[in-house]
Amino acid sequence: MSRYKDYQLIEKLSNVVGNEVTLRGWVYNQRGKGKLQFIILRDGTGIAQCVVFRDNVTEEVFESAKRITQESSLSVTGVVRADERAPGGFEIDVTDLKIIQIAQDYPIAKKEHGDAFLMKHRHLWLRSSRQHAILRVRAAVIKAIRDFFDGSGFTLVDSPILTPNACEGTSTLFETKYFDLGSAYLSQSGQLYAEAGAFALGRVYTFGPTFRAELSSTRKHLTEFWMVEPEMAFFDLEDDMDLAEDFVEYIVQYVLKTCRKELEILERDTTKLENIKRPFYRMSYTDAVDWLVKNDIPIIKKIDNQDVEIRPFPWGEDFGTVQEEAFMEQFDKPCIIHHYPTEVKAFYMKRDESNPKVVCALDMLGPEKAGELIGGSQREDNFDLLLERIKAENLPEEAFEWYLDLRRYGSVPHSGFGLGVERTVKWITGAKHIRECIPMPRMIDRIYP
Ligand code: 4AD
Ligand code: MG
Repeated sequence: MSRYKDYQLIEKLSNVVGNEVTLRGWVYNQRGKGKLQFIILRDGTGIAQCVVFRDNVTEEVFESAKRITQESSLSVTGVVRADERAPGGFEIDVTDLKIIQIAQDYPIAKKEHGDAFLMKHRHLWLRSSRQHAILRVRAAVIKAIRDFFDGSGFTLVDSPILTPNACEGTSTLFETKYFDLGSAYLSQSGQLYAEAGAFALGRVYTFGPTFRAELSSTRKHLTEFWMVEPEMAFFDLEDDMDLAEDFVEYIVQYVLKTCRKELEILERDTTKLENIKRPFYRMSYTDAVDWLVKNDIPIIKKIDNQDVEIRPFPWGEDFGTVQEEAFMEQFDKPCIIHHYPTEVKAFYMKRDESNPKVVCALDMLGPEKAGELIGGSQREDNFDLLLERIKAENLPEEAFEWYLDLRRYGSVPHSGFGLGVERTVKWITGAKHIRECIPMPRMIDRIYP
């Protein structure tokens, strides 16, 4: 028997009611009077109230119980009792207690702290119940993502992080020196490699960290974020949109099923999430612009360093937060906007055969100000048209030789999309800021801890 199995996890206490168990964890809270000390212990899986009664323990153990401070580490032995009134639902009648370490002046007190202070203490902030709940939802979102694809004919194909060229525009590249070969760039997206994977394995997904030197410092932008990118041979835009809807419905319903407790801690209105079932809404970019014009939603542009409002919203401009949030007010579920202007989208997107001014692109916007959750498209599968786009965008042709090969040898229609994990976690948890949706956020002005 392995030694670690001698210790009980708090989340499994319901299996051992009436037994004596040993828990290991940290002091979340503590109070005492007279012959009684109450310790709320947390071990990462839950919290349990441990009751130290002077008559049931040695003098030494009782004195230890009085000495402990918030976030001290302990091991506690006692008999498990179910008690609905106790925080966590169980009480431990303590028979023994060992201090592992006494914590001195834990910096995060129960009072409110400012954002800057909490961010600087992110390594400790993770221990608070809200942050804890968000990270558990994040883990569930990631599990749902993997289960969805692993169970439906997709193969995981990992993409490299060090890459020789840009994929999503050159303005947000992180550059690093790469031995004698010049520069390498941190991957902005694994998509181009996923396309090679799809032509080898049919349906694939790549899942990992991606990097953008984003100059936008908003509640929705990180410089390092996780993206899952499915890529499917023989899928057109319509198939791609259907898959994106199935996928997002699956993730939300999975989190609802497995994270009730966490969503409760986060005070999330779960009726809004219950409603996230197919069909979602869909609208072409052109119809969305008509809506913006009709509702007098302007675009705000920087001209000579001044914010200038332009109305009516001009066809051909990309949507930003202002337009997305105004537009999504009307919807209680995600909406896919499709067929964006060619100009505002990446070089690899397939132009619509009946109207080359637009590409077969899709963006899924979330309700409740969630912003863009998914970006994707059908890919240009024609050699000549793709080369034309590479040239038009002044991209280094040699770097894309291998990518062009995919259009030389057995090219087929294919499509895919990318879903941002932190944006999805932000939406589902209702977190205020994306920096709470990844353990150690990276933003323009933050790389510590
Ligand atoms: O729309 P994006 O840039 O699409 C791509 O990278 C495609 N290559 C994906 C594909 O077709 N395989 O990014 C996809 C998603 C966005 O919808 C958003 O959820 C997230 O990634 N995202 C970010 N999340 C946090 N911080 C940022 N700076 C993000 N940029 C994109
Ligand atoms: Mg996008």
